[in-house]
Amino acid sequence: MATYDLVVIGTGPGGYVCAVRASQLGMKVAVVEKNATLGGTCLNVGCMPSKALLHASEMFEEAAHSFAKMGVSVSTPKLDLPAMMNFKQQGIDGNVKGVEFLMKKNKIDVLKGTGKILGTGKVEVSADGKSQVVETKNIVIATGSDIARLKGIEIDEKRIVSSTGALSLEKVPQRMLVIGAGVIGLELGSVWRRLGSEVMVVEFLDRILPGMDGEIAKQFQRMLEKQGFAFKLGSKVTGVDASGKTLLAKIEPAAGGAAETIEADVVLVCIGRVPFTDGLGLKEAGVALDNRGRVQIDAHFSTNVKGVYAIGDVVAGPMLAHKAEDEGVAVAEILAGQSGHVNYDVIPGVVYTTPEVSSVGKTEEELKQAGQAYTVGKFPFTANGRSKVNQTTDGFVKILADAKTDRVLGVHIVGREAGEMIHEAVVLMEFGGSAEDLARSCHAHPTRSEAVKEAALAVGKRAIHM
Ligand code: FAD
Ligand code: NAI
Repeated sequence: MATYDLVVIGTGPGGYVCAVRASQLGMKVAVVEKNATLGGTCLNVGCMPSKALLHASEMFEEAAHSFAKMGVSVSTPKLDLPAMMNFKQQGIDGNVKGVEFLMKKNKIDVLKGTGKILGTGKVEVSADGKSQVVETKNIVIATGSDIARLKGIEIDEKRIVSSTGALSLEKVPQRMLVIGAGVIGLELGSVWRRLGSEVMVVEFLDRILPGMDGEIAKQFQRMLEKQGFAFKLGSKVTGVDASGKTLLAKIEPAAGGAAETIEADVVLVCIGRVPFTDGLGLKEAGVALDNRGRVQIDAHFSTNVKGVYAIGDVVAGPMLAHKAEDEGVAVAEILAGQSGHVNYDVIPGVVYTTPEVSSVGKTEEELKQAGQAYTVGKFPFTANGRSKVNQTTDGFVKILADAKTDRVLGVHIVGREAGEMIHEAVVLMEFGGSAEDLARSCHAHPTRSEAVKEAALAVGKRAIHM
């Protein structure tokens, strides 16, 4: 029987990163994966394929609408959807091979099959009707999440799709109805709108992107509407009739009231994700779950069963790849006797649309609710030189700082490349920096990042270009 220091169940960004770090620290490690390919949701049906399609569809739209004004004359671009899907697949394959390479390089055994915990120190791996039991000092559960379903709406991944189906549609739907104005709805809605779909988004709440700063979300919604998105906020889809050629979605006000019927060719259900623990044997092994079905852990990622830990989407916290990765590193370091930790106050979030939205730390709503005195500095891209010459002036940077100490508490950006720009705020906040620190740091000219510096200057009411 094979014996290990650590067996990680699941090879998403949480699991494979944990395995690599543990191997770096001298542990004998195996990963267990039930899917044919490594990399989990993120590499196969999540972050990476969605970003490939976002990039390709953005290029398509730019070629159609932005090239001419820059004096680049091209004939009307034509969509070759199979080729675009092939571009996406090449990206997936490249990244999946990268994880396979990392497993080999770090001498990590890859056990293909479904992992089941038989109690402290024992994992059963089953595939094709055969099973083996491996012994290990420690187990890390990194089994991720699955799509949340809506009662009465059957996902067939052809016409009524989850994100997985929406990443592989065979033709551009004329009308796409998106249920949920969260990250997936706005990213994948953007992909198909750019390729020609009329996109309507139905959202239960009275705003898009719950959890993001309200002012940013409001402005972002206007920008999306200008692009052609239609929103139906404060509404819920109560059923979809798929019996005819056209899908008929029944929509009601969230608070109750008269229903209306909306026609669509594809319905995308993206109302969140749920932890995935099927087949893991948690009940038999006595591993406790919380009231939302997530594996319950303490501050050191330990479950209630000795030697069993959990990280990533399957535990509490934002369902983000980089959060899973950082937890993977932290738990490996803890197992090696070090003091690995994750600073949950400084985890960035990015929506990879055009423009992008990014955020780190507290929103204005959260500060108000906590009764925290704060100052705000804002700077629009319309006043940023680089954005002006590129004619990409939508959006602004918003910095929230402690009114007494000037410590930066939150940074929120809507604008092109916001997902790259947020990281100087992440580093600043990790070091407990102030708006003054940011304002006094030299920023290269001409860059869009100068808007971040100007927003920091605006906290002290001394922005230069405004
Ligand atoms: P996962 O990546 O879900 O991996 C879990 C793995 O465990 C899977 O491979 C699964 O097959 C395996 N597994 C499960 N049970 C068993 C078992 N019993 N035995 C063996 N193997 C098992 N996040 C971002 O940060 N940025 C993004 O841009 C982004 N885009 C996304 C786009 C989409 C469309 C979706 C759906 C998600 C996106 N996410 C994004 C979220 C991100 O994918 C997840 O947060 C991340 O994958 C979580 O990593 P994980 O390691 O916890 O789990
Ligand atoms: P989400 O939680 O971001 O958004 C779901 C939305 O659906 C919310 O606005 C919610 O209010 C709404 N909703 C819930 N029930 C509804 C109903 N019955 N009718 C109408 N609206 C309803 O979830 P989403 O977009 O499915 O994404 C899942 C996870 O994947 C997220 O937690 C996110 O962190 C992760 N992800 C991250 C990305 C990124 O970092 N760029 C990209 C895509 C996904």
